[in-house]
Amino acid sequence: MTASPVAGEPLVRVEGHGPVVVIQLNRPAKLNALSTALEQALLEAVNSPAAQAAGAIVFAGSERAFSAGADTSELPDMTPSRIAAYYRGSGSVYDVVSRLPQPTLAAVSGYCLGAGFELALACDIRVAGDNAAFGLPEVGLGILPSSGGLTRLVRNVGPALAREIILFGERFPAAEAHRLGLVREVVPAGDVLATALERAAFLASQPPLAVAWTKAAIDSAAESSAASSLLVEQLAYAALNRGTGDAQ
Ligand code: COA
Repeated sequence: MTASPVAGEPLVRVEGHGPVVVIQLNRPAKLNALSTALEQALLEAVNSPAAQAAGAIVFAGSERAFSAGADTSELPDMTPSRIAAYYRGSGSVYDVVSRLPQPTLAAVSGYCLGAGFELALACDIRVAGDNAAFGLPEVGLGILPSSGGLTRLVRNVGPALAREIILFGERFPAAEAHRLGLVREVVPAGDVLATALERAAFLASQPPLAVAWTKAAIDSAAESSAASSLLVEQLAYAALNRGTGDAQ
């Protein structure tokens, strides 16, 4: 089953706030469950001229749910060849978000489960409401987090904690996510978007090329040898300092 937006209501809203663009999941009746249609709309929003030109991007849901995860009604329809096509299509959105040159923030309120948590992990920074509930319930459904969340969780908290979170599949509150370093700050539920916007505005005010290359260098440091990573740092420094006019 593919969900359609209510007439006149897009599945994803894109809204400018000065240099910051907010991309808001808008499927509240299904707790922003990430159907392929919603993922496709998200991909289009991320690739929209407004988002591409933004200084920072905030991903948000509703107060009740950032997202309750992949649309479970679509799971039984998936065959291996459809899954391969899915990752080339709407399922690429998590990776596309993780590679954006701009700073990305997830404003997490309410449920942040499964693919919703994976989307939040694809962002650089997470701000959570005190009502947020995180979890990766996939193993209990006979699958696993496969939108980059397993890999990103291991890289964020290490394999021991990733095993705990993924194998038990238990929900945990914002305070615990903060303690694990997965969330930058926990604020009252009604303040999540405003706080994320404030942090995003600061990041958008930073020199964009320095931000983009620093993001890429951090990703590279998590994946490569120290020697390669040090070289990336030095080359990026040389380019930023001499060649771009970006240095202050
Ligand atoms: N996929 C599809 N629909 C979902 C969904 C999902 N992941 N999560 C919630 N929904 C739908 C429900 O089916 C319900 O739709 P309906 O009103 O048409 O029946 C609506 O969203 C509200 O959900 P409901 O379960 O009634 O709300 P709740 O407050 O009682 O429970 C959750 C909230 C998040 C605990 C519960 O919805 C849930 O466990 N969802 C599945 C989470 C999950 O397994 N995600 C990972 C998938 S890999």
